[in-house]
Amino acid sequence: MKIKRLIVSTNQEKYPIFIGSGLISNLKDIIKDQSINFIKCLIVVDRNIPEKKINIIKKKLNHKKVYIHYIKANEKNKNQKTVNKILDILLEKNFSREDILISVGGGITGDIAGYAASIFKRGLKFINMPTTLLAQVDSSIGGKTGVNTKHGKNLIGSFYQPKLVISDTDFLNTLPKREITCGYGEILKHSLISNKNFFQFLNKNFKKIFKFRSPYIEKTIYESCKIKKKVVEKDEKEKSIRKILNFGHTFAHAYEASLNFSKKLNHGEAVILGMTTALNFSKLNNFLPLREFNIIENHIKNFGLPNDIKKYFFLKDLKKIISFMINDKKNNTNKINLILLKKIGIPLINKKFSKEKLTIFLNKELSD
Ligand SMILES: NC(=O)c1ccc[n+]([C@@H]2O[C@H](COP(=O)([O-])OP(=O)(O)OC[C@H]3O[C@@H](n4cnc5c(N)ncnc54)[C@H](O)[C@@H]3O)[C@@H](O)[C@H]2O)c1
Repeated sequence: MKIKRLIVSTNQEKYPIFIGSGLISNLKDIIKDQSINFIKCLIVVDRNIPEKKINIIKKKLNHKKVYIHYIKANEKNKNQKTVNKILDILLEKNFSREDILISVGGGITGDIAGYAASIFKRGLKFINMPTTLLAQVDSSIGGKTGVNTKHGKNLIGSFYQPKLVISDTDFLNTLPKREITCGYGEILKHSLISNKNFFQFLNKNFKKIFKFRSPYIEKTIYESCKIKKKVVEKDEKEKSIRKILNFGHTFAHAYEASLNFSKKLNHGEAVILGMTTALNFSKLNNFLPLREFNIIENHIKNFGLPNDIKKYFFLKDLKKIISFMINDKKNNTNKINLILLKKIGIPLINKKFSKEKLTIFLNKELSD
């Protein structure tokens, strides 16, 4: 069994990420090796995870008091009510800070469970077992937790690091194709903002990665995590460099919000669409050379990733999109803050643009 291991070192916590196949069968040893002790354990599980996997996890924790709580993972349920339900169970079962909460699910489950852990008695031990590609390469690293409100996505939350992340690639086998694309969007983003060699690896091995062939999938998840880990370690609270992780996201959030977070466009697809818009904007403003732009555009198109905003929006949506961009929580002025690309592997940060400039640009994107 090939297991890759990375250590994330933040001010709050130093913890390992394990990446590989068959990890949950070794859960007992992994937890023991990390000296993580607890008596009671609540596992918050995404309902779409096969029962067989949960039974393995339960079996491997069999000497402990294990409780299971299932959630339906969608953006609608990613709210305080779902968190309160988890807190109620922890209180009813008399959990103490010495006990543990484990999340088994994608980014939604991890964000909800991590947030509940962070506020339960001011911090309950937390283990994250991400089950989507997106969660394995992105949301399980860096300690951002939280929920949505009627005012927007992820507006309530905390920075709370887990004790351990276990990314078992076997979980990915049941993932719908659309969700694989979503995770791939974040992988592509990591390569574009940080590592040209990694981008070239992706370009060459895309098909094998999409089929989860070993060792390509493990290397892809590992390299992607390494990029996010390095950024998070430098800037845990997103004061400066961590902002590069938002490449494509200002557009993406506005796209998702404009469609009222409908299933027509999910988070990861919106990110890929947001990146293509940011790439177009980078090229148009001569930040990104045409040659580099073409290489990325070919990659996105050849592999059938979402790239045409006109498939999702009409010109009449422009006002709405711009207003969501202005209200993005990452903007602290009236201008719109964008992360752009200078070259493959080299981002451009702290670029601010007026509402008017973005309106003219998006107007053209939606009309051409
Ligand atoms: N905390 C962070 O730093 C961070 C970073 C990026 C995204 N996010 C958040 O992550 C969320 C998106 O995460 P996601 O893409 O993992 O979505 P998700 O958790 O909604 O999972 C996507 C879908 O796949 C299903 N699923 C999960 N694992 C499965 C498996 N192994 N087999 C079959 N089906 C499975 C889920 O039930 C769901 O229907 C968003 O809410 C976003 O805001 C957080």
